[in-house]
Amino acid sequence: MKMLKDIDVKNKRVLVRVDFNVTLNSAGQVFDDFRLRATLPTIQYLKTQGAKIILMAHFGRPPDSGKSKAINNKLSLKPIAEKLSELLNQEIKLAPDCVGETVKTMAQELKGGEILLLENLRWHAEEEKNNAEFAKQLAALGEVYVNDAFAVSHRAHASVAAIAQFLPGVAGLLLTKEIENLSRTRDNPSHPLVAIIGGAKISTKIKLIQSFLNKAEDVILGGALANTILHAQGVAIGRSFVEGGIFPELKNLKLTSTKIHLPIDAVLSEDQKGAGAFRIGAVGSTGERELILDIGPDSQKLFATVIAQAKMIIWNGPMGLFEMKSFDGGTMAIAQAIINSDAYSIVGGGETVAFLEKLGFIDKFSFVSTGGGAMMEFLSGEPMPGIEALEEKIYDL
Ligand code: 3PG
Repeated sequence: MKMLKDIDVKNKRVLVRVDFNVTLNSAGQVFDDFRLRATLPTIQYLKTQGAKIILMAHFGRPPDSGKSKAINNKLSLKPIAEKLSELLNQEIKLAPDCVGETVKTMAQELKGGEILLLENLRWHAEEEKNNAEFAKQLAALGEVYVNDAFAVSHRAHASVAAIAQFLPGVAGLLLTKEIENLSRTRDNPSHPLVAIIGGAKISTKIKLIQSFLNKAEDVILGGALANTILHAQGVAIGRSFVEGGIFPELKNLKLTSTKIHLPIDAVLSEDQKGAGAFRIGAVGSTGERELILDIGPDSQKLFATVIAQAKMIIWNGPMGLFEMKSFDGGTMAIAQAIINSDAYSIVGGGETVAFLEKLGFIDKFSFVSTGGGAMMEFLSGEPMPGIEALEEKIYDL
């Protein structure tokens, strides 16, 4: 795979796939700009080289692939262009779409160092279908392709996979950094290795849990996904969220493994909006009307002891309903325990990273991945279409 710094981009139209899939606040402005900031080194490098920069990105999941105008407006990259312009202190030209004659003209008129951001790729259903014709139209805008979107490289989408058939392609600085850091954990971890896996849906993390059961000394499970396991083990969990359909697949996990650490106590409430009363109790004491909404103090202590002896830690997903102040204590305690340890620490997952940013903890981790699903798939050893497309390139640069 070739890297950005291996090629000459001076005066070239460089088409860069980035992942700007961020959350907006109620005023419609970018709430968490971590993914934007993570791409700045690539953009700044291209600027210093005098390249004409064309950024392409997706935003959200348009339910009908953007055919409705209202959805298009809601999922426009306008607030992202504004934030990026603020971060770079430079005008960002926002194209009205990502393909078509107007966009082509805008791309051709770019001068060295200027930046054009294409509108949401997912306004076109062809993007998610990895459609070759659509990829060709995108490719026609540039002379070189850079993938700097690790966070979406697990998707076989046109701007990530098919496009590499039509343009010479290289890995951007962020993609390279993600691959280097995450490969170390995947292929050559330090031991004891501790994996902490939280979040709501166990179905999306089964492969990750399995992979760490094979190579880590300890696997800490929290968040709603732990409820599903507790329920499968016959523990009373009241009205807590459970992913019922997954029980047959759980049989493939060695749930009796002594490597697995599950919560022993919890923050329990009948009201998941955080306004009602809550109590701390053993997980098995959950009342019929109660829900498990966070790990309790004994679980925090237990998990902190495991974390303290780690040499390498990988963390993905919250321990509870951390959007609510009453239920964010467990996630905060895990963050603190990792920071207190001497281990090399890797954290990823959009929500977890946004939470850590809010706490001002982000710089205290050894590596923070921009990937959520992408990080999990990479660490599980799954093939990544965006990376494979660069490796299997038919073009010589
Ligand atoms: C993400 O936010 O994890 C990536 O941008 C991928 O988004 P997707 O899950 O909608 O494909």
